[in-house]
Amino acid sequence: MRHIILITGAGKGIGKAIALEFARHTIINPAFRPVLVLSSRTPADLETAAAECRTLGAEAIVIQADISNAAQATGLAETVIGRYGRIDCLINNAGVGRFRPLCELTEEDFDYTIATNLKGTFFLTQKLFPVMEKQRKGHIFFITSIAAEKAFKTSSIYSMTKFAQKGLAEALRLYAKECNVRITNIMPGAVHTPMWGDVPDGMKALMMMPEDIAETVACAYFLPERASVEELVIRPIGGDINE
Ligand SMILES: NC(=O)c1ccc[n+]([C@@H]2O[C@H](COP(=O)([O-])OP(=O)(O)OC[C@H]3O[C@@H](n4cnc5c(N)ncnc54)[C@H](OP(=O)(O)O)[C@@H]3O)[C@@H](O)[C@H]2O)c1
Repeated sequence: MRHIILITGAGKGIGKAIALEFARHTIINPAFRPVLVLSSRTPADLETAAAECRTLGAEAIVIQADISNAAQATGLAETVIGRYGRIDCLINNAGVGRFRPLCELTEEDFDYTIATNLKGTFFLTQKLFPVMEKQRKGHIFFITSIAAEKAFKTSSIYSMTKFAQKGLAEALRLYAKECNVRITNIMPGAVHTPMWGDVPDGMKALMMMPEDIAETVACAYFLPERASVEELVIRPIGGDINE
């Protein structure tokens, strides 16, 4: 059966690794035929990611959307449903962070972070969950962060959004458990992705890689549908790098 899988922020970092991991599963299990719907703001990144997925044998399409704009987030959902009539998996991965001491953060930092991490995630989920509810089948992932339950001095706004995403996942699960839909909150620690910019080799050695999170997502997705991984914390073996 075809699995329609929408991944936000699929152009790089963790989102791209998740797309490639699902694509790799078509080799492990030829009966798994995903349609990977890759979305973010940058078409060139998405086209590269889609080409890599196709090389692995998976069907991949690209939809550009800026989810910080509620109309684009709901438009993304409508395009997927208009095209395929169903959705099996939504990976709420797109996210941004502005990391500075509390008193240096601006209103622009606030609006930018809140719009993507909260508004975008909320309206996309709000539009797609009822489709899964009707199907009585589906899986929604939230790639939140360890910052969803642990504070760091330079991550005040980011942490606000991640605590809030965790709250959304928990509220949504109250609806989802009544209609056979799985809600998974993945809370990673430091992962070496473009979000961090350039990092020295010594620091990189202390971080996880995007593939580590992607494998975790696939493990949760491929469990029997009777089992739901509700929450997972995944940290570098040495713990958080900025403690
Ligand atoms: N890296 C870490 O250490 C870490 C740890 C815990 C949790 N996380 C979470 O994991 C998720 C992915 O992070 P990452 O490290 O992979 O970051 P990344 O490398 O910066 O990638 C972020 C992705 O989100 C997309 N994106 C950003 N704003 C968007 C918007 N308004 N609309 C649509 N797409 C948007 C980006 O593409 P465009 O810029 O082209 O739109 C990109 O594809 C985030 O939610 C992040 O908070 C990361």
